[in-house]
Amino acid sequence: MGAATTIAVLRERASGEHRVSATPETVKKFIGLGAAVRVEAGAGMTASISDEAYQAAGAEIVGEGVAAGADIVLGVQGPEVDLLAGANPGAWVVAGLDPFGKRARVDAYAAGGFEALAMEFMPRITRAQSMDILSSQSNLAGYKAVIVAADLYGRAFPMMMTAAGTVSAAKVFVMGVGVAGLQAIATARRLGGQVSATDVRSATKEQIQSLGAKPIFVENVAGIEGEGAGGYATEMSPEYQAAQAELVSSHIAKQDIVITTALIPGRPAPRLITDAQIATMKPGSVIFDLAVSAGGNVEGSVADQVVEKHGVKIVGYSNTATHLAADASALFSRNLFNFLSAFWDKEQGKPVLDEEIGNAIRLTQGGKVVNERLLG
Ligand code: NAI
Repeated sequence: MGAATTIAVLRERASGEHRVSATPETVKKFIGLGAAVRVEAGAGMTASISDEAYQAAGAEIVGEGVAAGADIVLGVQGPEVDLLAGANPGAWVVAGLDPFGKRARVDAYAAGGFEALAMEFMPRITRAQSMDILSSQSNLAGYKAVIVAADLYGRAFPMMMTAAGTVSAAKVFVMGVGVAGLQAIATARRLGGQVSATDVRSATKEQIQSLGAKPIFVENVAGIEGEGAGGYATEMSPEYQAAQAELVSSHIAKQDIVITTALIPGRPAPRLITDAQIATMKPGSVIFDLAVSAGGNVEGSVADQVVEKHGVKIVGYSNTATHLAADASALFSRNLFNFLSAFWDKEQGKPVLDEEIGNAIRLTQGGKVVNERLLG
């Protein structure tokens, strides 16, 4: 066996990114596998983790050139190639790489001889669940959306009977019941809201009910299973979209809080709420658009701004999980550790990927872009 595999943990450079890709817990576990870990100074600061805490876990803190001599470089978002200077030939870059949005950077990883592994391309198979950054971060985002909406809402969530009279419960409508939507429902219920929800995948109906919320579904429109590959949604027929718009229009006018989470992989987010529908809502209502950076489910939503239309506040963060940086980092870091440790080859002292997961997430290898989703 040669020298220990060296893992470098970068400080995030993207504006507003407060997460970090390793925690003292995962550093300790990587060292337990036989790796050496270098953490860039200040990497954990915005996630409430000090350099000393990393040091105590066994990491070396490095001021500049943290990637020098690294075999694996970890990030939350993909690093620019200059940050990888000095990494070993063929070093892995493991992060959320935004392969479609940052295509030129993927080419640069290839040109630099790096093996870029996009964690968001992790296949949705049972054994990869613990490695799935989309799930771990969406879950927190669904929670945060409700908390932010509750804060912006000028009324209370739970019904309260007081000597001065009764405060009625907030009516909350969740559109899109994937990972984020389920957590939004659960959170709104915990706060005492009266919750309803909708999705195009009929399998979600029971999940909505099991969380104590009311399903609002388009019925009697042909071909509306809505479930495509990997449990993701597909784009719906014009007939379905019209029926959905009508149903939503009558329901939405009665809601106080609406949380939208609808995404279709590789496509712009579906438009679920129009300006005309917003105009039917009560003044003081709040809409949180979790799909704002994918083009938005809500007409007029602007990333990282509270826009007021017809007396309704519309809000959406470009990066919701970063607003819970400590928990988001802890879960993200565990996703990365679960991934690398699952493939750790004891004899070679480094991870070796299998075909199913390797082919799904590997973007570049041997100087070339190799992922079929990028070559297609
Ligand atoms: P997502 O983030 O891609 O989309 C969010 C939700 O919006 C989905 O439920 C989708 O059906 C819904 N949607 C899309 N278009 C819509 C429209 N026009 N109107 C209303 N709703 C619309 O989905 P997410 O959260 O990533 O989860 C999708 C599925 O994948 C779920 O069934 C989840 O349980 C499953 N999953 C499986 C994993 C595994 O096995 N490793 C890991 C994570 C999720």
